[in-house]
Amino acid sequence: MSPITQIQALDVPSAIVQRRSIKTFKTDPIAPDLLKQLVELTVAAPSSFNIQSWQIVLVQDEAQKAALSAASWNQKQIIEAPVTFVFAANPHAGEQDLTPIYEQALKTGAWNEGTVNYFKNAIPQFQAGLGDKRREYAIKDAIIASTHLVLAAESLGLSTCFMNGWIEEQVKAVIGAEDSDLAIAVLVPVGYAAEPRLNPGRLPLSYNVSVDKIGNPYQA
Ligand SMILES: Cc1cc2nc3c(=O)[nH]c(=O)nc-3n(C[C@H](O)[C@H](O)[C@H](O)COP(=O)(O)O)c2cc1C
Repeated sequence: MSPITQIQALDVPSAIVQRRSIKTFKTDPIAPDLLKQLVELTVAAPSSFNIQSWQIVLVQDEAQKAALSAASWNQKQIIEAPVTFVFAANPHAGEQDLTPIYEQALKTGAWNEGTVNYFKNAIPQFQAGLGDKRREYAIKDAIIASTHLVLAAESLGLSTCFMNGWIEEQVKAVIGAEDSDLAIAVLVPVGYAAEPRLNPGRLPLSYNVSVDKIGNPYQA
């Protein structure tokens, strides 16, 4: 991975606290090295069995951005930001040939032959057991990767906005996935903020954090 050379990266807690969903972006480009670093930090995310079932499309071309914005209720962040990451999820990734994943883990020493042989049985069994939930499970992986992107971007001086406001079939058509089973998980425009935004705040912890069982509120 390329080193962070140009800016002092924010630590993770600071990036979490500082991050806001930005609605207006400058059109300033992201330097290619910085974009590469963002992509590498995004795919450093964990995934179920390390299957890495995401398919990430960096939408940068002006006509593609216009089409993606149109598929997203004309939300203009996509037009303004230099790049929007489309996080798609492949529900069938676990059924594909996983040899490259096994070979890599053997090479790093993270998994041994025993682990790989176990996974060769366990992964197909687990995937088959998921049935209709394969889509949901693939989306989990993609969403976790998108959170890596958002915090990495904030840490490296960029801004983002998670986006759920789009029509799945139209987004799939824009990225050329209309004939596939890919699910669209989330869209994330990335760029330099044109305007800051205030934190809308969070509920007191006792509203939605419990200890041991729901209804036993966590009292910090
Ligand atoms: C899954 C998800 C989908 C969202 N979709 C949109 C969206 O389509 N358009 C938008 O402007 N903001 C969207 N937001 C941003 C939320 O409105 C924002 O996160 C929330 O108001 C809290 O503000 P903050 O992110 O600055 O803390 C989305 C956020 C999340 C997590």
